[in-house]
Amino acid sequence: MMHKLDSPEKFDKYFQDLSEKQSEQYNHYKEIIQVCTGGGCIACGSLNLRTQLAGKLEERGLSGKFMVKGTGCLGPCSKGPAIMMMKSGIFYENVHLADIDSIIDEHLLGGTPVEKLLHHNDEDGKPVAKAADIKFFNHQRKIVLRRCGTIDPVDINDYIAAGGYISLRKTLTQLSPDQVLEEMKTSGLRGRGGAGFPTFMKWNLAKKKVPIKNIFCATPTKATREHSWIEVFWKEILTA
Ligand code: FES
Repeated sequence: MMHKLDSPEKFDKYFQDLSEKQSEQYNHYKEIIQVCTGGGCIACGSLNLRTQLAGKLEERGLSGKFMVKGTGCLGPCSKGPAIMMMKSGIFYENVHLADIDSIIDEHLLGGTPVEKLLHHNDEDGKPVAKAADIKFFNHQRKIVLRRCGTIDPVDINDYIAAGGYISLRKTLTQLSPDQVLEEMKTSGLRGRGGAGFPTFMKWNLAKKKVPIKNIFCATPTKATREHSWIEVFWKEILTA
């Protein structure tokens, strides 16, 4: 059910309730199986993998102990479908439907990672179980994309529980237009088109030129699966 959050207080309460519920849920499960549902892995069948894995756990009476969730791109797209076990940090690559029973029996119930699904070092061919020990991951420091691979991209509540919209809340309730522009300038944020146009400059021009008070800007034509909620949001705005 969709909630209308029409005041900062309602947003705060919603955020707090969601965060608490999520951390209780995460504590409850023995493992959270994150199946990558980024474009590359979807092309290799990860949506079906997620559904079948969840179905099998349900069928075997294990869905109360192990949770399956979709995530955005985990990173190594050429190795998809990829799975990251949230609690143990174990990473699997090239996972197929035929591997579901091994994951359940050997890993989830038996406590031993499924070796053939682990990443193998290029140098010596040895298996590496934890993502933190795989060079591909430990040579990276994600900043903007730090939550990519942990949030379900089609679940807006997952985003909100992770602190999504906190900056928007601050902007709408605490900052003046000039302070917002200053923040943009300090951040160095630029457009991702060819010109790399500084965002603060674009917004500053809009502020000077447009004589109306409130402008809502969105790019509904760019709605992808990850942003499919925009379409719903956009229709609500147009019919409000
Ligand atoms: S799309 Fe799955 S790892 Fe990138």
